[in-house]
Amino acid sequence: MKTAIYPGSFDPVTYGHIDIIDRAAKIFDHVTVGVLSNQSKKPLFTVAERVDMLREIVRDLPNVDVTSFSGLLVDFARACNSQVVIRGLRAITDFEYELQMSQTNRIMNPDLDTVFFTTDLKYSYLSSSTVREVAYFHGDISAFVPPLVEQEMLKKFSDQK
Ligand code: PNS
Repeated sequence: MKTAIYPGSFDPVTYGHIDIIDRAAKIFDHVTVGVLSNQSKKPLFTVAERVDMLREIVRDLPNVDVTSFSGLLVDFARACNSQVVIRGLRAITDFEYELQMSQTNRIMNPDLDTVFFTTDLKYSYLSSSTVREVAYFHGDISAFVPPLVEQEMLKKFSDQK
């Protein structure tokens, strides 16, 4: 069985991430979406909130599950019995960081490969940080995230008023 993990911060999950999950789920037998629990990053959403939103979003994909992880990605991959990490590449600017991460992971675990999905062109501009900024200034984020996430973002920023 070919299993893959798709790790990220997903703060919040965007249509760009969802497109990659959909495509990966067609190629691999099983995909585990791993939400990084990293206190030092000071996320907008708690890890539990991000996991809940993702679970709702992938509800109709039977071969996808969502869980959180902390610590090293190589350890998470081992715990999931996976030798494949999925990452999205939006533009050449992503490449340097992704290459460095993938090579570092392969040194720690030579059996772990990273498979890059080129982001759909219509999402190549999209990032979670841009979505957070637009939402912070009460801009319309409906083109970037599903309605469920939009609702949760609206709640976050109205809580912060
Ligand atoms: O969505 P992001 O923030 O680009 O995802 C980055 C992520 C979670 C894939 C990366 O930060 C990660 O793997 N963190 C776990 C810690 C780790 O293994 N670091 C060493 C790899 S360079």
